[in-house]
Amino acid sequence: MENSRRSFLKGSLTLGAASLITPSVALATRPRVDDGFKFAVGPYLQTNFNNSMTILWLTNNIGAGWVEYGEAPDQLNQKAFGKAELGLIAANSKLNMITLSNLKPGTKYYYKIVSKEIKSFQPYKLVYGDTISSEIQQFVNTDVNKAEISFLMMNDIHDRPESIPHLMGLVGNEKQDFIFFNGDIFDYQTDEKQIIDHMLQPCVDNFARHTPFVYVRGNHETRGKFARDFPRYYMHVGHAAFTLGPVRFVILDTGEDKEDSHPVYANIVNFDDYRAQQAEWLKTEIESKAFRKAPFRIVLMHIPPRFSGDAHGPKQCTELFEPLLNKGKVDLVLSGHTHRHMVHQPDKNLNHYPLIIGGGPKAGTRTITKIKADANKVVVSMLDDSGKEVGAYTAMKK
Ligand SMILES: [Fe+2]
Repeated sequence: MENSRRSFLKGSLTLGAASLITPSVALATRPRVDDGFKFAVGPYLQTNFNNSMTILWLTNNIGAGWVEYGEAPDQLNQKAFGKAELGLIAANSKLNMITLSNLKPGTKYYYKIVSKEIKSFQPYKLVYGDTISSEIQQFVNTDVNKAEISFLMMNDIHDRPESIPHLMGLVGNEKQDFIFFNGDIFDYQTDEKQIIDHMLQPCVDNFARHTPFVYVRGNHETRGKFARDFPRYYMHVGHAAFTLGPVRFVILDTGEDKEDSHPVYANIVNFDDYRAQQAEWLKTEIESKAFRKAPFRIVLMHIPPRFSGDAHGPKQCTELFEPLLNKGKVDLVLSGHTHRHMVHQPDKNLNHYPLIIGGGPKAGTRTITKIKADANKVVVSMLDDSGKEVGAYTAMKK
């Protein structure tokens, strides 16, 4: 009896109607929860700097949200809504992503998130339910012209949410400009709950209400049935570039490690083209004024551009990206993927740049990497999960 019930449940989960509808519809129309309208997680901050800050959160039911903000806690006199597309402001969703723009450099902002439940959405009658708001939070809009910057890198957490507070706890309370997640924070993507429980909630609890994070996918975030929904929960998880203080940051999404034709990908991936497109983009980036005029150029990518074996993905990263990293005179590359922390010195015949690889994911092999940069030097210090420095590098201005 129990066995047949189990196999029935398994069958209905596999063949349920939800699998037949498109992901965005599935997310937006999930049944209402009846224990009151609440925030499910957040707020969490993400940014590419340039005087803007993106605030994200999730509610337990569908709603419409906005952010109230200002320069004093008792003067939240500005209001920002989600992006409007074709005249429609983003709403009717549990997920909220709102960007505050034209912020003043180096200024502290106070904000709260507000959501209004949508109880029913008829063509000519929308019924709102409860309105909820968060406590007042704060962040400093980083001055992109500041002389010294600092950030932390975590990588290869692999569904171990407790690693986030543990590693963050090793570095003290010094203010960071951002936290960088260099891929493989998950083993594979299953559902929204996994994203909340294994990443967003520990980030919110530890730093993300006041310090933004930047994130790039590893190979594991491309796997699983929710991989195509997963990017919606973030400002971006692919390639990007931005300038902060003396550094031009370039982020590459290195994709999968096996060949696209490998049976585990079931003929529905095309990372070869994706990496080739990024190489084209990188060619343009290294010619850009922002890249060339920056005192330092730091590249962040999950699969290292070399020294991670001879699987198809790593080999393609070497072939496509390394010549450009050398040509662009990149000062530092930060990676993960190998699960063994390592500092590779520059080599005039191979990688002209220092390559620092963080470890993980098991206790005893995890690392957090601290990076500080000013106009003269970039200083890297990698700590293991006992707090001991296991890697260090200083890149001087050439
Ligand atoms: Fe990886």
